[in-house]
Amino acid sequence: MTDNIVWHNAAVNHRERQLRNGHQPCLLWYTGLSGSGKSTIANAVDRLLFNLGCSTYLLDGDNVRHGLNNDLGFDDTSRVENIRRITEVSRLMLDAGLIVGTAFISPFIADRAKAKALAGNAFIEVFVDTPLAICEQRDPKGLYKKVRAGEIAHFTGISSPYEAPQKPDIHVNTVELSIEQAARQVLAYLRGQGIVANN
Ligand code: ADX
Repeated sequence: MTDNIVWHNAAVNHRERQLRNGHQPCLLWYTGLSGSGKSTIANAVDRLLFNLGCSTYLLDGDNVRHGLNNDLGFDDTSRVENIRRITEVSRLMLDAGLIVGTAFISPFIADRAKAKALAGNAFIEVFVDTPLAICEQRDPKGLYKKVRAGEIAHFTGISSPYEAPQKPDIHVNTVELSIEQAARQVLAYLRGQGIVANN
């Protein structure tokens, strides 16, 4: 498939991008159940970082499924392909020097491991840890109600598996923390790692 395709080296290098951006690129990979708060927290982090002058972009599950991945469903094969494409897009954005956030359920450990393998040290796994019962109680999109009424098949945590991270880089407890506190926890981690400056 890659016969007759030659890799071009970029004229602008990573170091130059990093100097202009004033921070290192990284990939904040949020994972958690539907309704756990991934998008909400990822957006709050994105706002904090943007206000600090960082170059950021957020890829959100529901939004990406409206465009790039609108041909994919929720069977296992589709979810694997969903995450594969997101991983590749994230890699391009990392290459552009951005702080990339991805908010997808990304239920399978193996797929998150592939993203980690591609992004290397830039990969930061953020487990948005909200128990199923609480997601169902919050039910921000009314989906759990539909699942219980038998209207949605293969629903994560109910009729499709969710493999929680075993050693996430950041473990966000959304039961105890507010959105603002959760976002600050992520920012503190980035500062601690020297990805974003402390001032
Ligand atoms: S993933 O499993 O492939 O990573 P993704 O994050 O893109 O999922 O999309 C999940 C979102 O799609 C959920 O937050 C929910 O709004 C919606 N959704 C619709 N059907 C399902 C389903 N069967 N399982 C999980 N989420 C679903």
